[in-house]
Amino acid sequence: TKTASVPILSCEEAIERLRRFRESYEGEECEYLAMYSSVFGGITTDPSAMVVPLDDHIVHRGHAVFDTALICNGYLYELDQHLDRLLVSASMAKINLPFDRDTIRGILIQTVSASGCRNGSLRYFVSSGIGDFQLSPSGCHASSLYAVVIRAAASSSPPRGGVRVITSSVPMKPPPFASTKSVNYLPNALSQMEAESRGAFAAVWVDPDGRVAEGPNVNVAFVTREGELVMPDPDGGRVLRGCTARRVFVLAEELVGRRGGL
Ligand SMILES: Cc1ncc(COP(=O)(O)O)c(C=O)c1O
Repeated sequence: TKTASVPILSCEEAIERLRRFRESYEGEECEYLAMYSSVFGGITTDPSAMVVPLDDHIVHRGHAVFDTALICNGYLYELDQHLDRLLVSASMAKINLPFDRDTIRGILIQTVSASGCRNGSLRYFVSSGIGDFQLSPSGCHASSLYAVVIRAAASSSPPRGGVRVITSSVPMKPPPFASTKSVNYLPNALSQMEAESRGAFAAVWVDPDGRVAEGPNVNVAFVTREGELVMPDPDGGRVLRGCTARRVFVLAEELVGRRGGL
């Protein structure tokens, strides 16, 4: 068999090809409106420049943590709670922050502001950094921060009126990995694929002792027929410390007060 010869590109040609590749996606559901990278130390609104170096340990070792904050009507929903969780995850992953908390917060807000996005999401990552392809980050120059703003898809409202879930057959992450929001989402991705292949909204993990844990990107809660709210403890270390779950506790208390029982 004859292999087509692979072109050798200049930097400009490679960027031009990246641009064309991105343009071929135009009109699809989500759009990347802005990206911050500590590697180039700034914000870009050009999707073809929204790239991460291959020797960043986020790519080849998964040695990075991340979080997401929703952008609702121009506001970052519970940014501080999400930022606190990012910092805890970074410390569990033994990643030194590239900047202090206030600086990271300021960068995230400026990135959203530059994007002009009013409804969407902000995803941000702290990685052990760029340096080499070794396992240990000891050869990395500095940890990296990346953030990207994604416009909400038109059809992104959450499902109402109940969803079908299945029990996941994919082994769940043990503590402390379950409560560290690292970029190692292979079990989560496989679990979601399992749900999709069986026509379900999500696959829920049940731990070896038979206790319900969480879904691949959602916490799980039940309201019993008796009106009780039952939820795996988001601070118990078996599941991710979900910001939504913690918010549900606050809102549920208000609902109990207003309705005289949930
Ligand atoms: C494994 C896992 N559990 C739960 C959640 C829900 O967390 P939150 O409510 O903070 O989005 C997520 C969110 O990404 C997750 O990845």
